Amino acid sequence: MPFNPENVRSQFPALSITDNGKPRIYLDNPAGTQVPQIVIDRMVDCLLNANANLGGHFKTSKLADAVVDDAHRAMADFLNASSSDEIIFGQNMTTITLHVSRSIGKTFSSGDEIILTQMDHDANVHPWVLLARDLDLKIRWLPFDRDTFEFDLSALDELLNERTKLVCVGGASNLTGTINDITEICRRARAVGAMTYIDAVQSAPHVVTDVQAIGCDFLVLSAYKFFGPHQGILWGRREVLESLQPYKVRPAPDELPWCFETGTQSHEGMAGTAAAVDYFAWIGETMAEDWLAAHANLNGRRKYVRAAMDCLFDYERSLSEQLLAGLQSLPGITIQGITGNDALDRRVPTVAFTHASARPANIAKQLAERGIFVWSGHNYALEAVKSLGILDTGGAVRVGPVHYNNANEINKLLDSVADILG
Ligand SMILES: Cc1ncc(COP(=O)(O)O)c(C=O)c1O
Repeated sequence: MPFNPENVRSQFPALSITDNGKPRIYLDNPAGTQVPQIVIDRMVDCLLNANANLGGHFKTSKLADAVVDDAHRAMADFLNASSSDEIIFGQNMTTITLHVSRSIGKTFSSGDEIILTQMDHDANVHPWVLLARDLDLKIRWLPFDRDTFEFDLSALDELLNERTKLVCVGGASNLTGTINDITEICRRARAVGAMTYIDAVQSAPHVVTDVQAIGCDFLVLSAYKFFGPHQGILWGRREVLESLQPYKVRPAPDELPWCFETGTQSHEGMAGTAAAVDYFAWIGETMAEDWLAAHANLNGRRKYVRAAMDCLFDYERSLSEQLLAGLQSLPGITIQGITGNDALDRRVPTVAFTHASARPANIAKQLAERGIFVWSGHNYALEAVKSLGILDTGGAVRVGPVHYNNANEINKLLDSVADILG
């Protein structure tokens, strides 16, 4: 069967919850998605049957070992890592970044340069600002064009030089929705010998992530943004990870990935993360016949994940088109992001908008009263809202559909926004 949101909506129990008879419309997805039943079941199973620490001689410990191995393999498939040893689990993207930045910083010296962007979420900005303060590094800022909402890569070229040690950039903006050309950015960074740290938190739910094709050194993401539980994941290139000093306690193993996975991990979170990958694979296997037929040479779970991403992206583009056209038809609204129909391949469906007079928080509050869940404010994209000049006016309203949303929900959102703005 071809993809259609009705094929998957029944997999998500939260989508049928009502409040006083009113259905919930989840458009808060860039902040966290709902989970399919398979994720809930695997987490419950882990807590019930495999609830022990790792490496023991008894049944529950062996089952916990299997859960953890399976999660590393699932994420290696999801990201096309060359080995599951390159997958490191942690509490969330922010905590992982603060932690690994300490090891990465050990390779820098005073006066070295790092490049941060004015588009990124603060989790890929401030850990590096703190590191720069500690080590006396020079920060160079990559701006984005306020009209196109994209980076001008010639500006990157002007920042890169032989002192550049690290370039930190996001796969997609959590505010404007712009998809960045991270493969090209990594290529240019590599040319001057700089490492790259990619925040894929907002791209991973929407586009194929292939760490080998991107050519980055590190890539971080959060399972709760791609239909899994609250769980962070870091991929690091093996030779780079092996060259770093892990900050760990003495009895913890010295080998990858365990030397970077500090303390006892959330095994149930890992079980749920593997289930989220299997959920994508299920979509690919059952709903992407055309893509599978055209790629008969590929194999395994990775093939199905890629197939899923391909068909989901096409579907989500139709939601972007509908949402953007509807919002733009309302007087006083400015879209803070790419709008052209011919440019929808360069954005995820996350749409931020402002209004000439209404405060974003007021719009979000009135939408919530109608059962429509959206975020407002800076959404932690502090540099981006500052660049756009909207920090002091309350940021933006952020509407973030994913593949389980449908055209009917977007219409309700549009009608409600029209009604609120009157
Ligand atoms: C682009 C981006 N990066 C990083 C984060 C932080 O992720 P976590 O909550 O896993 O620390 C978020 C969260 O919204 C995000 O959108």
